[in-house]
Amino acid sequence: MKNLVLVGFMGTGKTTVGKAAAERLGMEFVDTDCIVEAAAGRTIERVFAESGEAAFRELEAMAVAQAASRRGAVIATGGGALGRPENVAALRASGVLVCLTARPEVVLERVLAQGIDRPMLHGTDPLERIRDLLAARQAAYAQADAQIDTSDLTLDGALEAVMRVYHRLANMGSKMGTTIAGEGPKAVHAPCPRCGAPVVVRQVQGDHCQSCGAELNLFAPHEDDTAEDFLHVLTGEKHLLVLGDGTRIIAHL
Ligand code: S3P
Repeated sequence: MKNLVLVGFMGTGKTTVGKAAAERLGMEFVDTDCIVEAAAGRTIERVFAESGEAAFRELEAMAVAQAASRRGAVIATGGGALGRPENVAALRASGVLVCLTARPEVVLERVLAQGIDRPMLHGTDPLERIRDLLAARQAAYAQADAQIDTSDLTLDGALEAVMRVYHRLANMGSKMGTTIAGEGPKAVHAPCPRCGAPVVVRQVQGDHCQSCGAELNLFAPHEDDTAEDFLHVLTGEKHLLVLGDGTRIIAHL
């Protein structure tokens, strides 16, 4: 069983949704922040205050490696865990990466309500700090297999969205390479993620942009799902194009 790895900024629901997902799936719940605290024998707040962020990131990389070595686990990661390429590689190899997101105002509201000290938000204007960190981490978070915005979701809503994505992506692979709907000349029309030219994608995998030649792939893991159904569920948008190099771009029709 592939791990379900929840990544994303603080206050997006990784721990809460992760625990609920673990219960639902009958899987172990692992939190990299808890591994760090156990290894350091101190709270994260104290690690930051006494040893600094660099020391924390070292401990976090060790915790990520340890968590990623588990099988059949739901793993919640700290908000900065995708900052190191080796962390991304280890987590990606261990399972499905689902990035939870939320609007900056919602993040602040949730973080304040939790009352847990967040060393990364120290300073005069936490909302500004959240915006800056989100902008700086955008590319790192974009490496996840899917993004789910939890801003307007209840815990149950977020859990259902995560379950749908996990079940579909965990079973992918073998289903790739089929035509989109299995019958008829069905096609996805979207802008090419590389050059922006309008493209017509007729195959789940291996089509090319008619203008720049980029390889284009669509996710459609179940034979009984049309790409549109699946991608709508996955992104809340219409289509997700994946370039041959793995770049994931959501295309609005
Ligand atoms: C951090 C997020 C925290 C924790 C540490 C650093 C970050 O985890 O790892 O305070 O860099 O965003 P949560 O995302 O679980 O709050």
